[in-house]
Amino acid sequence: MFPRDVISAGPLILRPPVEDDAEAIVKMCDDPVAARFLPSLPRPYEHDHALAYVREAPGRWEAGAARYAIARGGRPAGLLWLGAPDRWGASDLGFLVAPWARGAGVAATAARAVTDWAFDHGVRRVELQSEVENVAGLRVAYRAGFVEEGRRREARRLRDGRFADYVVFARLKGEAAPAVEPYLPFPRGGELDDGVVRLTPMEPDDAGDFHRMLAEPSVAEYSVTPPGTLDDDVRRCRYTGYWWTSGQRAELAIRDAASGAFAGHIQLMQVAPVLGQAMIGYSLLPGFRGRGFMTRAVRLLVDWTFARTALHRIVAGTDTDNTASHAVLERAGFQREGVHRELLPRRDGTRADDLHWAVLRPAR
Ligand SMILES: CC(C)(COP(=O)(O)OP(=O)(O)OC[C@H]1O[C@@H](n2cnc3c(N)ncnc32)[C@H](O)[C@@H]1OP(=O)(O)O)[C@@H](O)C(=O)NCCC(=O)NCCS
Repeated sequence: MFPRDVISAGPLILRPPVEDDAEAIVKMCDDPVAARFLPSLPRPYEHDHALAYVREAPGRWEAGAARYAIARGGRPAGLLWLGAPDRWGASDLGFLVAPWARGAGVAATAARAVTDWAFDHGVRRVELQSEVENVAGLRVAYRAGFVEEGRRREARRLRDGRFADYVVFARLKGEAAPAVEPYLPFPRGGELDDGVVRLTPMEPDDAGDFHRMLAEPSVAEYSVTPPGTLDDDVRRCRYTGYWWTSGQRAELAIRDAASGAFAGHIQLMQVAPVLGQAMIGYSLLPGFRGRGFMTRAVRLLVDWTFARTALHRIVAGTDTDNTASHAVLERAGFQREGVHRELLPRRDGTRADDLHWAVLRPAR
């Protein structure tokens, strides 16, 4: 059983919740972000729910778990709960930060401190799960030194009835737990824009346009992956934040800056940090071709990549007869590096040669 300690963590104090916290607990739980990512929170969240949370806490401690209020500057800033360790010494961790305290490292600091404390009290493994769309939750896990272990597909049901995928993280007692900076920083609220073209992280609302674009014959002709269903593409769009935050890929919609309309898709993939290399890939809807949109999109993504990441080489592969794509790459500063013979499988069973391109990080 955990002792009912007060834990001090930099500017934070973690202490058992008290009835005076009830009003603040209502405000932090009756919040759209909390409701979105903690589907088991009552909605609407009322005063009686907060009182029950506080009054049940002693029983939870008796049963081997821990329930904490996080306080900063004497004011409630969040909640944190640790499950009773199982027979193998593994505990589950969950947390919530009040809207007025977010974005200041509260969750990462508290998660790290309570995990270290649990290791001092018989726990050998602390687990944490974050929904793939919960970018802040994912970042907290990386910053608090947790290691990604895998994904649980359709693990929990959300309020809208849909089952969501979760990423599983854990920290083990005794292992180093460095805070991991994102290899591909997510452009928070961010967009890349040159006044004509706007790049925005792909979202589930883009899935329909994206799906229709992939089915377009002139796009399908150069795709090496077979077309998926609309559901596959919705799922893919839900993964944008996770792929980005975990450094696997950056996925962006290309929009007409004037109207906001979806014009195409551009991505950085095959990210290889040891080589400092990633591959760019893109497609544009026919109605937006012939206006320099893709050259602008490639330039925006290349400039962002060299400004915000440690990548040194951005490569591209094109079918040798895809002259429109060759022109885009040339205008965006790529150079031809060679030919991979019979690399690209075609739908008719034959294989096409792949022209290999690269642009290098500009010398300072
Ligand atoms: C997840 C949550 C606890 C984060 O609390 P927090 O105190 O703001 O977290 P931190 O300040 O320690 O870190 C937040 C990180 O997410 C990033 N972040 C937050 N919102 C983001 C967004 N919409 N897009 C991209 N990044 C975002 C912050 O920049 C920060 O990243 P950094 O460490 O690289 O700078 C809080 O958003 C919350 O209570 N959400 C609802 C409940 C929940 O999701 N619980 C966790 C379940 S896993």
